[in-house]
Amino acid sequence: MPKRSIAIFASGSGSNAEKIAEYFAGRTDIEIALILSNNPKAGVIERARRFHIPVLLFDRTGFYQTDQVTSLLQKQGIDLIVLAGFMWLLPASLVQAFPNRIVNIHPALLPKFGGKGMYGHFVHEAVVAAGEAESGITIHFVNEQYDEGQVIFQANCPVEPTDSPDEVARKVQVLEHRHYPRVVDEVLQRLG
Ligand code: GRF
Repeated sequence: MPKRSIAIFASGSGSNAEKIAEYFAGRTDIEIALILSNNPKAGVIERARRFHIPVLLFDRTGFYQTDQVTSLLQKQGIDLIVLAGFMWLLPASLVQAFPNRIVNIHPALLPKFGGKGMYGHFVHEAVVAAGEAESGITIHFVNEQYDEGQVIFQANCPVEPTDSPDEVARKVQVLEHRHYPRVVDEVLQRLG
């Protein structure tokens, strides 16, 4: 079985990218070949450096006006693209070039609290404001719409009436770090 290659996209801190790197460290069948970011100040860059994972930075023009990123991923033989806190909508050409080979994690129980503008703290504030009794994570395949691809996995956590958005964010992050690496591994095993 050829070695499988993952590319991770991240725009922010990169704690999920780090958990995925830790999880696959030492594996001979799967490697994280590349970490890509649209943010030169993203915390994920320093984390990638610690794991000796190459980083590619790109800007809006390169991402949306050219097929630089898509063709580079194809040339590198990337098997699975993992979005971990990547803020931009993927161009249709990239989604079409990697059918059922792009996954994302969303910090809520989709289809609720998803879509454009629903990211990071805005999600947890909306969950608390709605008086939800639970929240959680959703891992899904990526299509050309925000947060609408086929759901692969969900896990939930209770939300107490006294919980602040920060508290909900903390509980949700525990679920992300516990499940995302394992689900990525399962998706890769199923790629066949
Ligand atoms: C996570 O909450 C993830 O669900 C969302 O973006 C956040 C990224 O966090 N899509 P980090 O950069 O991995 O710490």
